[in-house]
Amino acid sequence: MNASSHPHIVILTGAGVSAESGIPTFRGAGGLWEGRDVMELATPAFQRNRDLVQRFYNERRQDLLKKEPNAAHHAIARLQREYPGRVTLVTQNIDDLHERAGSPEVWHIHGELLLSRCERCYEVQHCREDLHSASRCEHCGQSGRLRPHVVWFGEVPYHLGDLDIKTRDARIFAAIGTGGLVYPAANFAHIARSLGARCIEFNLEPSDGVFDEFIEGPAGQTVTAWVDSLLKQPS
Ligand code: OAD
Repeated sequence: MNASSHPHIVILTGAGVSAESGIPTFRGAGGLWEGRDVMELATPAFQRNRDLVQRFYNERRQDLLKKEPNAAHHAIARLQREYPGRVTLVTQNIDDLHERAGSPEVWHIHGELLLSRCERCYEVQHCREDLHSASRCEHCGQSGRLRPHVVWFGEVPYHLGDLDIKTRDARIFAAIGTGGLVYPAANFAHIARSLGARCIEFNLEPSDGVFDEFIEGPAGQTVTAWVDSLLKQPS
């Protein structure tokens, strides 16, 4: 296979790609937002109840450290490594399961749970331990000003400018395991389609987005089969 005959693929993943690793999605029965107040846990309202928010993310961080990537993460990483054309992986997920599966480059538009950020000096640091009021910034020494390096509602997602430029020539856009309800990611398929990409959705059920093809089923199976077929294509 050679690169010129292989179109640029852009993949957008959401919580559904990590569901088979045992990480709950956000919406629907048993989802993370069920019975919880999103406005308290995932907005700058953090300033009002820092302990509650830190506890929520501390629990998710400790849970993540016990999880492993699943077949879908591994298939996407294999595609990134073996496909002769470009593959750009964009995720709304704050877990590190794509990286642990071997993905060489992952654009985390909603941030990363295993990073913290100091609200005083803005330094971003690795974070595997719980954050609380006594947690001290290793960079500026201030206590009590570390927060998860994640994007909350009302904050601007990361990397949008870079991605706008890098993904314009995409000819295949695949949305995997996302409900398509949170902007701006919910609009990515629409933009990709208007720029000439074929848009494919992998999900247990169709979302509201407009796609050229819907592939139904758990991502561990469907994405693995898709990657196998892409890598088998003759040059
Ligand atoms: P959602 O919880 O909204 O949607 C998860 C999607 O994954 C649903 O459409 C499910 O049908 C699908 N799904 C579940 N299991 C699956 C599986 N095994 N295989 C394939 N699909 C499966 O999660 P997101 O769309 O990722 O943002 O949510 C987007 C954003 O909303 C998150 O990044 C988060 C949340 O609020 C912030 O916190 C800022």
